[in-house]
Amino acid sequence: MASRVIVVTSGKGGVGKTTTTANLAAALAVMGNKVVAIDGDVGLRNLDVIMGLENRIVYTLIDALEENCRLRQTLIKDKRIDNLFMIPTAQSKTKDAVTSEQMINVCNELREEFDYVIVDSPAGIEAGFRNASAGADEALVVTTPEVSAVRDADRIIGLLESMQKSPIRLIVNRIKPQMVKKGDMLGVSDVLDILAIDLIGMVPDDESVVTSANRGEPLTISSDTPAARAFKNIALRLSGTETPFLSLEQGESNGFIGKLKRVFGL
Ligand SMILES: Nc1ncnc2c1ncn2[C@@H]1O[C@H](COP(=O)(O)OP(=O)(O)O)[C@@H](O)[C@H]1O
Ligand SMILES: [Mg+2]
Repeated sequence: MASRVIVVTSGKGGVGKTTTTANLAAALAVMGNKVVAIDGDVGLRNLDVIMGLENRIVYTLIDALEENCRLRQTLIKDKRIDNLFMIPTAQSKTKDAVTSEQMINVCNELREEFDYVIVDSPAGIEAGFRNASAGADEALVVTTPEVSAVRDADRIIGLLESMQKSPIRLIVNRIKPQMVKKGDMLGVSDVLDILAIDLIGMVPDDESVVTSANRGEPLTISSDTPAARAFKNIALRLSGTETPFLSLEQGESNGFIGKLKRVFGL
């Protein structure tokens, strides 16, 4: 199988990129793929914490770029899954510590060994977004169903298109069905109407995301909460397995599914 390099990004910050990166990397590894997740968010390092690997860091990506070590020495093997790895970044460096060319080289070197390279990037409106995304073929854009996040996602989709990422697919995270029902929150179909890119998944707002982050164990390793199921389904769709959108993921009534079907013309 040809190796795939996928950047996880967003317009607005704090919408769930790092959560998505950790959970998709773990889910793809559980499915038998050899996966590496790279923390491309220099300065806001936290993928290592979410994956529970912060105590194992010896070298970071920046050490490899500064030639203090080889890239292979930055790889941290997951404690629970044999074929899951991560590359941490440095906390102290500024966002321009990694150039686009360096990122392309890093991703190309990793392609030789991994089935999936998943890059956690800074939000698109921040410096460093372009560099972190440079080595990726595909993009996953994460948004919450808030007007400001969707508007920022729209801008970033334009940027990703100009960078010729393909496909660019959307994850709507932190959906609160009760609020959508009451009309207090944008529904997924409203978001899709605005952004006009393919939807790859919907993740409910779920407390288990926070507890798993605190434990340092991605949900997709062994949980079966609604968010865990949603992330596992996204991993399946990513790997090309047709997977229906569960009403559970949407946390929605049949009326909502009907609306979604109309959006997709199903
Ligand atoms: N589906 C979800 N349900 C509940 N909390 C979530 C969900 N997704 C993300 N969060 C929380 O939102 C915060 C930001 O998530 P994070 O993945 O760090 O975003 P980003 O990397 O885009 O800045 C974290 O505290 C995380 O636990
Ligand atoms: Mg993050």
